[in-house]
Amino acid sequence: MVRIAPDELSFSSPEVWPQIYNSRPQLLKTKYHFAPPDTEQLPHSMITAPDAEHARIRRLAGPAFLNAGIAEVEPVLQHYTDLLCSQLAVASTEGSQNIVEWFLWTLNDVIGQLALDQEFQCLEKRRMHPWPQFLLSVLKQTAALNQFRRFGLSMKVLKLLLTKKMLDERDNFLNLAKTAITQRLAGEKEETSGLTANNGGNQKKKRPDIVGLMLREMKGGEKLSEGEIMSNSILIVGGGAETTSTCLSATFYHLCKTPHVMNKLKNEIRRTFSSSDEITVKATANLPYLKATVDESLRLFPVASYITPRVTPKEGYTISGEFIGGNVSLDKSGSLLLLLGWEMMLISTTPDIYLHGPVVHG
Ligand code: HEM
Repeated sequence: MVRIAPDELSFSSPEVWPQIYNSRPQLLKTKYHFAPPDTEQLPHSMITAPDAEHARIRRLAGPAFLNAGIAEVEPVLQHYTDLLCSQLAVASTEGSQNIVEWFLWTLNDVIGQLALDQEFQCLEKRRMHPWPQFLLSVLKQTAALNQFRRFGLSMKVLKLLLTKKMLDERDNFLNLAKTAITQRLAGEKEETSGLTANNGGNQKKKRPDIVGLMLREMKGGEKLSEGEIMSNSILIVGGGAETTSTCLSATFYHLCKTPHVMNKLKNEIRRTFSSSDEITVKATANLPYLKATVDESLRLFPVASYITPRVTPKEGYTISGEFIGGNVSLDKSGSLLLLLGWEMMLISTTPDIYLHGPVVHG
């Protein structure tokens, strides 16, 4: 445990983390957590929402994140995994390929389909969709701006530091996201009012996307507003693709650097499956070496390297027998970089990994 500021403690011990993040009642997020949105433009998403609002949004968005949903999304994962493999096979005959980009394209296609039922066509066109592209490009800027809040500068003041170009890009992005989500919501209204053709009653039941699940009304008629659907969709498109693709990139980087691990993993996979059709979410859950490889990759290269601070209640809190006073921030890290809170800067510095021909090299 290291005191990194008068009211902030940083912990590197894994046993302590559940006491910070899984406590009941939950410890609240601190003011150093993600910056609040520009509420003139968008309401809070669940990651920035204050406590009571967070609980309400989580309850309403909950059905979109149940484990049972995984089986329903499997065809999407299979489709884009197959597309990645077939496209990469073609591309590798053209020369070296940056696997970081390929994973980003794949996961953005997956999340576009899962979240909004839209084809982002990143793999097909070998480019990022402007939506996730914008989110990636402002990640560093947002992380940096957020840190100034520690010195008492409000977001209103910080906004004055942004150039016209930055503000225009942000407005363009918001318009793009709003148009995409409005189109998605209009599709929902058409379906519920029966405007969509139904092939003589034989129409297959449509797989619900995350927006569709978030739109569902709770028993008392409570539901998320359109603005909340919008801000949470932006969160999910931004948070669901870059994280998972960076984890894959880091895993491949370390596998290429550690051939004996690569061989052991290949053996486990090839011993278990005789064709790619057999590789399903359920079947891969039973591969201990694969799981260990991903866990180890997340340990060596923590993807969401954000400190996710929580605050102790005003009466204080005991961690591993140590009493900590009230209103103290607790973080999950110890290094100097993390201490400064600039760690999100590390995102998108994933080393590029190139695949060339049949040979994989880091
Ligand atoms: C390797 C993959 C991922 C990592 C490392 C990761 C990491 C994180 C972290 C660090 C947070 C913030 C926790 C906090 O505030 O204390 C978070 C929140 C969140 N993530 Fe992820 N994430 C991953 C994948 C995903 C995916 C695939 C989705 C959606 C499809 C997703 C959706 C969310 C949402 C909705 C929140 C807000 C939850 C809340 O505040 O209640 N994440 N994630």
